[in-house]
Amino acid sequence: MNKKVNINIDGKEYQVLENKKLVDAAKENGIYIPTLCHFREIDPSLGTCRICTVMVNGKFTTSCTTKVKEGMKVEINSPDLIDTRKAIIEMLFAEGNHFCPSCEKSGNCDLQNLAYDMGITVSRFPHVFSNKHVDFNPKRMIMESNRCILCRRCVEEVSTSDGMDIFSFVNRGVKTRVHIDYEQEQKLSEAEAIHAMNICPVGAILVKGMIYKEPFGERKYDILGKTKQTSSGDLCAIKNEDEKFIVATTSLAGCFGCHMSLLDIDAELIDMLEIVEFNKSPLTDIKKFSKRCHVGLIEGGVANSENIKVLKEFRKKCDILIAFGECAIMGGIPAMRNFFPLKECLEEAYIHGITSEIGANTIPNHVDIPKILNNVYPTNEVVKIDHFIPGCPPNANHIWKAVKSILLGKEFPVMHEEFKYD
Ligand code: SF4
Ligand code: SF4
Ligand code: FES
Repeated sequence: MNKKVNINIDGKEYQVLENKKLVDAAKENGIYIPTLCHFREIDPSLGTCRICTVMVNGKFTTSCTTKVKEGMKVEINSPDLIDTRKAIIEMLFAEGNHFCPSCEKSGNCDLQNLAYDMGITVSRFPHVFSNKHVDFNPKRMIMESNRCILCRRCVEEVSTSDGMDIFSFVNRGVKTRVHIDYEQEQKLSEAEAIHAMNICPVGAILVKGMIYKEPFGERKYDILGKTKQTSSGDLCAIKNEDEKFIVATTSLAGCFGCHMSLLDIDAELIDMLEIVEFNKSPLTDIKKFSKRCHVGLIEGGVANSENIKVLKEFRKKCDILIAFGECAIMGGIPAMRNFFPLKECLEEAYIHGITSEIGANTIPNHVDIPKILNNVYPTNEVVKIDHFIPGCPPNANHIWKAVKSILLGKEFPVMHEEFKYD
C-alpha cells in the first residue's frame, strides 16, 4: 500500500510514503542528512555510526533506522544537531588512526569527505586509538583495522557466490575488529573484492594491486569537488584585471627550506612576478602587512607564542591560507620534541647537550623571548587552513602550480616527479 503521510521537517510540511526510512524520505524531498553506515541494499539499516542523528518528536534518533509516521515532527538542521553530527565524525577521527595524506583511500573515502563537508580540520577530542592489527595475509586484500569504524557494512553485505561470509567481528569492546576468512576470501572474483573495498566507507579494506587504479585528483570526491564553486574563483572576482594578486609568506617553526624551495622556481619567478606582488614576507623583508592579501603561504609548525600571534594575524589579513611543507601540515621535524617533556628538551639544548656552552646552567627565559609551547602544533590546529601543499620541502614546481591553480581557478596538473618526496 502506497499510503502517504504528513510530516514536518524543520518547520516545513511534506507528504511522504508511510514507513519509508526517514533518511530516504528526506532525500527524496531534497533534504540531505549525512550517513556513513547506511547502504541502500542493507535492510534493516545497521544504525551503527550515528552520523544521521536527527531529532524526532523531541528525541534524538538515527534517521536511517526510523520509519516515517503520520504527524512526525523532525528537526535536522538546528545548530545543536549540526554540531552533534560534527562531534560524532570528530570522535571517529579520534578513535582511529586516520592520516589522510598517506591513505590509499584518500579522495574515495566517505569519512574524509564528510569531514571536509562539515569543515572539520581537527578533532575536539583527544586521540585515543590503540595500535590495531594490519592483516596482509589474505590473498587479495589488506585489512587495515586502524581505520575501521566498525560500521558492519562488509559483514552484512559481502559473501561468496555460494553464500559464505568473508568478514566477521572478533573480540569485544575496544578490541573489536573485523576478521577476514582467508579460505572464503580466496573464492572472491576480482570484481567482488573491489566491491568489498568500495563498500567500506573508509580505507580499512584494500585490494592488493587495485588501490591506485584511479589516480589522485580523479577520485570520487575529487571529481565532485571540481564542480563546486572554488575559493579561487572568488579570488579572481575580488580583484581588477590589471591588479596583481597580493601574496604574503612567513616561516614559523621551520628551517626555511620551503622558502628556499619557493626560490627554486628559477625562471618561472619572472612569470610569477607578472601576476603576484609579495607583501609581508622574508622574500621582500617587508615586516608588516601594508594591505590585505589574497593568499598567505605558511611554512613551519607552531612552537611558541610568537608563532601563534603571527599565524592568527595571517588568518586575519589573508583571504586564503596555504600551509606548505610537512612542518606546517603536521609539525614536521620540530614536532619530534613532542615525544619528550619540554624541560628535558630545554636542558638538552642549553645545559647538557654537546653544543651547550661549557659550564652553562641557565635556560634563557627573558620576557622578550616568545614563550615556548609544550608541544609543536600543525598550523591547522590553531587556525583554519584552506589548502595544504605536502613535501619536505615541496618541490618548487609543485608549490607554484598549486598556488597558480588557487589564484587563477584553473588546473595546472602536478607531475609525479614534482610531488615525490624522497
Ligand atoms: S580512511 Fe578516510 S579518513 Fe581515514 S585516513 Fe583514509 S582517507 Fe582519511
Ligand atoms: S572494514 Fe570497513 S566496511 Fe567493514 S566494518 Fe570496518 S569500516 Fe565498516
Ligand atoms: S547512517 Fe544512520 S546510523 Fe549510520
